[in-house]
Amino acid sequence: MTDVHFNKEKGSQLRLFTPGPVYVPERILKEISKPNDTHRSKPYSEMHQMATEGLQKLLYTRNECLIFTSSATGIMEACVRNLVKDDEKALFLSIGAFGDRWYDIGVTNGKNSVKEGVEWGKAITPEFAREVLNKDEYSVAFIQANETSTGVYNPINEVVPIIKDSGALVCVDATSSMAGVKVEVDKLGIDVCLASVQKCFALPPGLAVCSVSNAAFEKASEVKNRGLYFDFIEMKKRNAKHQTPTTPPIPQIRGLASQLDYILNKEGLEKRFERHEQLGNHTRKWVENINLEMFPDKKYVSNTVSTIKNSLDLDIPKMVSMLLDKGYRIVNGYGDLVNKTFRIGHMGEIQLKDLEEMLKILANIIDELK
Ligand SMILES: Cc1ncc(COP(=O)(O)O)c(C=O)c1O
Repeated sequence: MTDVHFNKEKGSQLRLFTPGPVYVPERILKEISKPNDTHRSKPYSEMHQMATEGLQKLLYTRNECLIFTSSATGIMEACVRNLVKDDEKALFLSIGAFGDRWYDIGVTNGKNSVKEGVEWGKAITPEFAREVLNKDEYSVAFIQANETSTGVYNPINEVVPIIKDSGALVCVDATSSMAGVKVEVDKLGIDVCLASVQKCFALPPGLAVCSVSNAAFEKASEVKNRGLYFDFIEMKKRNAKHQTPTTPPIPQIRGLASQLDYILNKEGLEKRFERHEQLGNHTRKWVENINLEMFPDKKYVSNTVSTIKNSLDLDIPKMVSMLLDKGYRIVNGYGDLVNKTFRIGHMGEIQLKDLEEMLKILANIIDELK
């Protein structure tokens, strides 16, 4: 292993342009290394409260926010187990690998699960949502905000209200956009909005967060076999004391509280969302300039991850490896899109000048490979 990839003193020196886990700033690493009291202590509760109140501001919601010791998939499973009764039907609106995963979670938990989707690269449009909802009755619908495999951002501002009108609860997986793209939970009526923190939050992996509506909590109280570790009702009981039911990774929660303070009070929400939009725009312009093409439908491109078509028939593993030698990591396509696409993550604390530098080097590599 080289010094860049694994430096005993300094850790990895790679600059990550990945769709998670992402680069974590030094100030967060320092925060996480501080000593803590126990998870039943007052100082812990204060920290926990700072984090959950920060999440409410980030998500424009008065709904309760919960912190899970898991990655995002844990909360995706929690949504299924807590919100779907045995005699109900759940609708999974899938536009890629993570939508398919949510459907698989429904199936493997024995729930009556229906998947409706569109061709990869396309989005769930309001028309498509209406058409699907007219076909049957669903108690809960599951949808991605940002689909990280295809680089599509679903028009959730239009689609969520349509689903709500059908009477279903709506769970939104905002894993690769929360803290990078604005989502107004209360305005849209989202019942559960979830994410893990190793993406736009720019924190190390290990935690996932979500907002949960009163309607979702009420529903959960009527659902049997919710399990123990991810039970919304137990989480709510402990959250009232600004705690979690089991031992959480306390240093990570210190990091989350500190990063939310930075996002809300130092960078500012609007500036953060604008920066991500700028990063997305810059990447798309670069793609056009070097005669590549974006994979997603132009109308629904993501501002946090760019999925780029391999229209020049490049050797993607070689390209990724050549860029690694220069100290940067980007990633191949996901699942069925391996070698047909590659992905550049531009989320978290990445600044425009960092992206410009990396893209210049990548353009030279692509020139060499063509
Ligand atoms: C949209 C989306 N949903 C869910 C997940 C799963 O997240 P985790 O690995 O935190 O469980 C990912 C991970 O990349 C994702 O991008």
